[in-house]
Amino acid sequence: MNEDRKGILLAGGTGTRLYPLTATMSKQLVAVYNKPMIYYSLSTMMLAGVREILLISTPRDLSAYQDLLGSGDRFGIEFSYAEQSEPRGIAEAFIIGERFLGSQSSMLVLGDNLFYGRMDFLRTASADTGDDAIIFGYEVADPSSYGVVHFDETWRATKLEEKPENASSRWAVPGLYFYPPGVTDEARQLDPSGRGELEITDLNTRYLKAGRLKVVPMGRGIAWFDTGTPTALLEAANFIEAIEKRQGLIIGSPEEISLAQGFVSSQQFLKHVRLLPASDYRTYLERLVP
Ligand code: DAU
Repeated sequence: MNEDRKGILLAGGTGTRLYPLTATMSKQLVAVYNKPMIYYSLSTMMLAGVREILLISTPRDLSAYQDLLGSGDRFGIEFSYAEQSEPRGIAEAFIIGERFLGSQSSMLVLGDNLFYGRMDFLRTASADTGDDAIIFGYEVADPSSYGVVHFDETWRATKLEEKPENASSRWAVPGLYFYPPGVTDEARQLDPSGRGELEITDLNTRYLKAGRLKVVPMGRGIAWFDTGTPTALLEAANFIEAIEKRQGLIIGSPEEISLAQGFVSSQQFLKHVRLLPASDYRTYLERLVP
């Protein structure tokens, strides 16, 4: 495992597509079935073995995340917090996070992205200490609302596009990215796009052009949801409910993952869990330690 890789969880933006849910609340705190959306992306990051995490949100919403997640102590991880004063693009996260990242490698997860399935690929990507950036390709019926990657017949990525109208590729790029040290310098070279944002797709294109981008096709055994629209939010919630009910297990619990990953001892885990309000969530967690 690459113990030094640092994580950025991006939870800003305007969330206009979810208005009025987002009139007074950060999009990534909206519920996906029975827990806040951010729990799922945080879980993804923890499953990659990343324990030092910078959470970026808006000046309005940052304190809500601090209230929800605190220092990270109870999950055996360490949170830092930073504001993005305006939604100037996903790639700005690396400029905001410059001091936090230092000379370390990094992982970025968008707070509205949810992954479910065998997560071995995360460990593999996270452990990569090479000089390449790593992104993923995920086959979808309609890629027009995503970054899209084109492959040649040898599965070499040839081109990236942001929200193309008529893409000839069905491979979307999920909001999960790994970068080698120096990503802040790359982000600083970007010009704002037509919509005034530092685009993550432009950042990845820089790595592609430099021959430093690995694009890993994500198998169909992984479920990926971007929960940024009302329909997508409901579909993700229904999916989580169906699997949780069937298995009697909870998906996306940072507490459970902290125990499973060995980030906390059983004693530390129980100490925290016993402070939680009486709820199905607490009962489930209490049962994890015999
Ligand atoms: O979900 C994956 C897609 O995410 C990628 O395929 C696209 O390449 C990427 O551009 C992005 O597309 P979206 O249209 O979903 O981006 P959106 O503007 O919704 O922002 C994604 C998340 O990042 C969202 O939770 C809000 C947050 N965000 C966004 C911007 C632009 C910020 O925190 N700050 C920002 O400045």
